[in-house]
Amino acid sequence: MQIMTFTGSKGGVGKTTIIFNYAAWLAKSNYKVLLIDGDFQANLSSSYNLITNEHTLLDVFIDGDPEIRNATKNIDLLPASPNLDRVEGLIQTKMYREYLLMQWMNANAKKIQSYDFVLIDTHPEFGLLTKNMIAVSDIVIVPLEPSEYGFQQLKTQFDLRMADYRKDSVDPRTGVSDIDAKVYFLGNKIQHNTTESREFRQALDNMPDVIAQINAREIMRKSTAQKQAVVDMPDSEIKKYPGFKEHLINQFTQMTQTIQNESEA
Ligand SMILES: Nc1ncnc2c1ncn2[C@@H]1O[C@H](COP(=O)(O)OP(=O)(O)OP(=O)(O)O)[C@@H](O)[C@H]1O
Ligand SMILES: [Mg+2]
Repeated sequence: MQIMTFTGSKGGVGKTTIIFNYAAWLAKSNYKVLLIDGDFQANLSSSYNLITNEHTLLDVFIDGDPEIRNATKNIDLLPASPNLDRVEGLIQTKMYREYLLMQWMNANAKKIQSYDFVLIDTHPEFGLLTKNMIAVSDIVIVPLEPSEYGFQQLKTQFDLRMADYRKDSVDPRTGVSDIDAKVYFLGNKIQHNTTESREFRQALDNMPDVIAQINAREIMRKSTAQKQAVVDMPDSEIKKYPGFKEHLINQFTQMTQTIQNESEA
């Protein structure tokens, strides 16, 4: 079982879209997947028409009764609550406030262990909620996109925040940080003909720990808009975007291998 959080402080880079499509591919490959929607915008939950305010992820933090739903074959979901943005205020004064999700997972270890992959979506910020997600994760994936203001800046900002979080979580008795997730970057929305994307691709090639590079293509936007993952689309649709489905599956395969190697290391 591997727990992966998709995060980063910039919105719109493709976290939800990648999780939605990756989960569909894992499910098709016969893996059991648990999705946790940590964004109060609830985009991931809405992709499965599971918008609700009851028994959600919020309940994990307020001693409520969270309920994992079946989303589709091989995919379960713990939905977001639109009130999840209040979590910070609600848990600010709690003991071990960065480890509340971990406590819930430990209390439900048998259920959680029954999945091959747990994929966690986040709101673009590095607050208490995201810290809870990172604390339970084996792997953190930070999607980056080509941008005229520089993805490098976003990467650096994430690295610094993560380093601070690791440092703040050092157990004084052992000198070891409780935050042991491995961080990977993922290039997304790469176009083939722009200077920006060419520079982006070059930078990714020279960066260690890049887990995948996914091209920009309208079919990805369609997948979230129509709530149908690329791997589940009919051939008539796939045909309009020659080579993209194969490209996506290649990247997902490579990603999964890296993750599985990580768990054996
Ligand atoms: N590879 C891609 N090619 C084309 N469009 C993409 C690609 N990846 C994501 N998109 C589109 O970009 C938009 C933003 O993606 P998404 O909502 O997944 O980002 P996000 O990081 O989850 O944003 P937020 O931080 O606001 O939750 C969506 O319309 C999505 O369909
Ligand atoms: Mg999102």
